[in-house]
Amino acid sequence: MPTYPRIASLKTFDDFQDRLRELDLQLVADEAVDSGDTSPLAQSAKVGELTIGNRFCILPMEGWDGTADGKPTDLTRRRWKNFGISGAKLMWGGEAVAVRHDGRANPNQLCLTENNLSEIGALRELLIAAHAERFGNTDDLVVGLQLTHSGRFARPNEKTKPEPRAAQRNPALDPRLNITDDSGIMTDDELKSLIDDFVVASARAAKLGYQFVDVKHCHGYLGHELLSGVDRPGEFGGSFENRTRFLREIVAGIRAEAPELELGVRLSIFDFLPYRKSESGIGEPEPAGDPRLVFGSNSRGDGVELTEPIQFLELMQSLGMKLICTTAGSPYYTPHLQRPAFFPPSDGYQPPEDPLIGVDRQIAATAELKKRFPEMFVVGSGYTYLQDWLPNVAQAVVLNGLADSIGLGRMVLSYPDLPADVLEGNQLARKKVCRTFSDCTTAPRKGIISGCYPLDPYYKNLPERKELLALKKQ
Ligand SMILES: Cc1cc2nc3c(=O)[nH]c(=O)nc-3n(C[C@H](O)[C@H](O)[C@H](O)COP(=O)(O)O)c2cc1C
Ligand code: SF4
Repeated sequence: MPTYPRIASLKTFDDFQDRLRELDLQLVADEAVDSGDTSPLAQSAKVGELTIGNRFCILPMEGWDGTADGKPTDLTRRRWKNFGISGAKLMWGGEAVAVRHDGRANPNQLCLTENNLSEIGALRELLIAAHAERFGNTDDLVVGLQLTHSGRFARPNEKTKPEPRAAQRNPALDPRLNITDDSGIMTDDELKSLIDDFVVASARAAKLGYQFVDVKHCHGYLGHELLSGVDRPGEFGGSFENRTRFLREIVAGIRAEAPELELGVRLSIFDFLPYRKSESGIGEPEPAGDPRLVFGSNSRGDGVELTEPIQFLELMQSLGMKLICTTAGSPYYTPHLQRPAFFPPSDGYQPPEDPLIGVDRQIAATAELKKRFPEMFVVGSGYTYLQDWLPNVAQAVVLNGLADSIGLGRMVLSYPDLPADVLEGNQLARKKVCRTFSDCTTAPRKGIISGCYPLDPYYKNLPERKELLALKKQ
């Protein structure tokens, strides 16, 4: 079993740099991180009419903790409040919110129905109030909502029961979701009615005060799967033009119904063949994987190839979309690409590479896109594995123009106000730094609410923690 040095063991900046050199990575990092108004991470940016007050962004993170009818609970509200006190000035969508019931990834995912409007609107207000209480000014705080349909990964009714609504068949993924025939594939007519649902949900989000919506195209969910729908017949498959019809029609609908909304996409900018656990426990590509069905990969399905993702950004630009949040792969079948971790989630595999390579891969691919699309506001992801060195890399990435904003996922579950500490020049609270234990992913895989059980005192004290520990031993 390969072992990689833990980040916590890289005690000095030189140790960190030495490790990057050993791995032959070009990852940039500044030895000294600035604070205060002149810090590169404290600079504001204009996106259309929006002013984003600094270069930290909170990535969308759900908690599998909504009610059966898709309303937030106290746990959801606690998470959004924490996002508000983080110090970041851009909220990329809060969390995945389904546009209709059959698109929910789990029976506890939020759903933007007419009945849930006031509660989902109140999440935004709560976040803004928490931000105002801690930081005063909210004029430069931008809050969006991520809209989704989970497609092949939908489980709207029971946690253990996949009810896939896939874009096409996939030999490596179908067996994992009990797909044996075409009955779970969305028809063109169903996609057309789903486009209407996205438009209706976007208009609702605008009415609630959200400043942008993210038309989610990542992580193997429907929008993303359509992009690789080369075998799909009809209007939404085959050619690049057909595979992007879903986005174009949603955007056209939103422009007509809610012209005031800014629009963004969270995109898996590359992916590899689906991975599985090998006999040794390390991840390996599925032999049944078909590289033609992987968006943003080379012809073997084992490397980044940005030709089509670049075309996708060209399309976004032609549609007047200015906001892009880059991510990669899927948490279900390529978690080492998507959220590099030292400890895999229960349904994952031991990392097939030093997770630093995964971080570098996302930063490098994002930088390539930023270089080609300088007018777009580009948010990157996958930084949490950097742990103590996250601020050093974040500052260098922004200073070198490799991305406009640093998206934070797991790190803010364990350490909600890390951005504020960096910007205020406070020493990092090492005990709160996420060590990528993956419990926030394992818990929901075991049917339990998500949260940072190892480091967040609130979750540490919940009965669910004991349940999780027992389940992990099985
Ligand atoms: C508990 C959890 C929930 C997540 N929920 C979402 C989500 O709702 N929408 C989404 O696009 N990504 C989601 N993600 C992915 C994160 O936004 C992010 O891309 C990923 O964690 C990698 O960033 P990091 O290294 O900062 O954690 C989730 C991740 C975690 C750990
Ligand atoms: S459970 Fe906590 S420490 Fe573990 S990966 Fe999630 S946020 Fe990080």
